[in-house]
Amino acid sequence: MGLKEQIDLTKLPQHIAIIMDGNGRWAKQHGQQRVFGHRNGVTAVRESAEAAAELGIPFLTVYAFSTENWNRPKVEVNALMKLLLQTIENELTTLNKNNIRLNAIGDLGSLPKENQKKLQKVMDDTRHNSRMTLTLALSYSGRWDLVEAARALARKVAQGECRPEDVDADLLNSLLSTSEMPDPELLIRTSGEYRISNFLLWQIAYAELYFTLTLWPDFRRDDLYAAIIDYQHRERRFGKTSDQIKK
Ligand code: IPE
Ligand code: IPE
Ligand code: MG
Repeated sequence: MGLKEQIDLTKLPQHIAIIMDGNGRWAKQHGQQRVFGHRNGVTAVRESAEAAAELGIPFLTVYAFSTENWNRPKVEVNALMKLLLQTIENELTTLNKNNIRLNAIGDLGSLPKENQKKLQKVMDDTRHNSRMTLTLALSYSGRWDLVEAARALARKVAQGECRPEDVDADLLNSLLSTSEMPDPELLIRTSGEYRISNFLLWQIAYAELYFTLTLWPDFRRDDLYAAIIDYQHRERRFGKTSDQIKK
């Protein structure tokens, strides 16, 4: 039996988030420059998105560029921005063919103007696609998201739209960039790094974490299936006891 057949379709995570890591190391292993790894990472994104959509997972969010990634050498940042531009342009047909809507979260205003325009166009052109929402986290960090939400909250209070005592988890959640999605139930990180690197901090409160040694450019459908199968074998207790969950 293949991995795909081992997946219980009645227990799929509704939202999977991925920290795509290891492109640079992959390139090095192939005796190439780092950008070669980024270019090959695009295939892994396409495969993961198609596989998730085919299974019926409504939300897939991938960490493509962090707030901290701006601190990389200029040549790499420029190469990544160029690659992003080409990729969103090239993938429009595939997105539509697969009925996938493109979405983006992060400080998008800090991206090059060309990228902002192209991104907006592809988001508009795919907005009616309903099988899955693929969200790119770009110039994103969990702290950035929380700071933006805190600002919005402060503004609301200052304008008398709500009182400090009205602030609760739901209100804060509604002001995050991910307010339209459920929290990710499964967070995958590739390349054998065991950290969150400022990704969805609030949203992963109860996510199941899955780490794999596979470098991102090598990640394929079966790697996604393996992560989902692992997730399905976990007991999610949310603070309760195992006996309570089994009842
Ligand atoms: C992930 O791969 C892609 C981005 C962060 C943009 P890396 O570029 O971090 O690859 P490694 O971690 O150096 O191998
Ligand atoms: C995290 O990867 C960011 C993305 C995958 C976009 P990094 O490679 O930048 O993470 P650190 O800095 O090694 O933790
Ligand atoms: Mg890395």
